[in-house]
Amino acid sequence: MAMPSQPDPRPEEETVKYEVIDGVAWVYFNRPDKRNCQSPKLNRQMGRVLNELEFRDDVQVLVLTGEGSAWSAGMDLLEYFRMNEAGGIGAVRKAQREAYSWWERLRWYEKATIGMINGWCFGGAYGPLFACDIAIASDDAQFGLSEINWAILPGGGASKVAAELMPYRKAMYHAMMGENLTGQQAAEQGLVTESVPADKLKARVQEIADNLKKKDTHALRATKWAMRRVMEMTYDNAEDYLIRTQEALNDFGGWETRKEATKQFLDEKTFKPGLGAFDKTKVAKD
Ligand code: COA
Repeated sequence: MAMPSQPDPRPEEETVKYEVIDGVAWVYFNRPDKRNCQSPKLNRQMGRVLNELEFRDDVQVLVLTGEGSAWSAGMDLLEYFRMNEAGGIGAVRKAQREAYSWWERLRWYEKATIGMINGWCFGGAYGPLFACDIAIASDDAQFGLSEINWAILPGGGASKVAAELMPYRKAMYHAMMGENLTGQQAAEQGLVTESVPADKLKARVQEIADNLKKKDTHALRATKWAMRRVMEMTYDNAEDYLIRTQEALNDFGGWETRKEATKQFLDEKTFKPGLGAFDKTKVAKD
């Protein structure tokens, strides 16, 4: 008979690893032998790592990816579900909070975020998937709402993520059937931004990160938050919210930045907004 799974002895601080290279924080789910499923230890550590990186001046873009063959195989059925359920409602709620809080943090992160989906992506991994502003998958990644296959519903926001991102008929089929989608299918159905061959994945993500680094940081943050907020607003509310947010951005040093960008286009003719970002290094620093 197969050996029953045991709790992972990996120390909490090793469940996530990261390196900062040239303005990009590469953050890894780091339980490859457990397909990077999310245990309470990993969830607590991810919260710490996101916290540590969010306001660092040397980080402009955060990439979330997985070590080994998985991005994340969802929640840990042993350490997140079974062990906490044995501990009662208090343990369950604590574990939920530890997971949901870092996903929420990531949804509203100060820096631009890219999910680099290198492999398995199941159920509870849809929370962080949705939280990433841009999601680039490997063609051979596998996406699944596998919950139905083990007799639960896609909780932890996963149903909402599918309903939000995918065409309704596709989302319903995806949730009910428990069949996996490849990276390419996930891109066709709106679950990720795009899908590329595995050997091009890192280069494509690097290219996007390099492009994002050229944008004005404050405008980028206001833009990504606005895109998330307006999804739940009426047209009139969105129109008003966008006016207010732009005005707040102006007070955040935005006037100077815009003046410089406009000058580069209209007067110096050194760039065209339709073809790329202005040179932000020329903005006077106070
Ligand atoms: N929870 C707990 N343990 C998990 C896990 C999860 N979500 N996903 C993988 N693991 C563990 C396995 O139990 C195994 O542990 P062991 O070495 O102690 O036996 C180890 O990770 C490797 O997994 P294995 O199934 O042997 O790898 P695989 O490459 O053959 O298959 C998957 C990969 C992802 C298809 C398979 O592990 C799987 O179906 N995982 C569950 C996915 C899921 O339904 N997640 C939804 C949760 S909301």
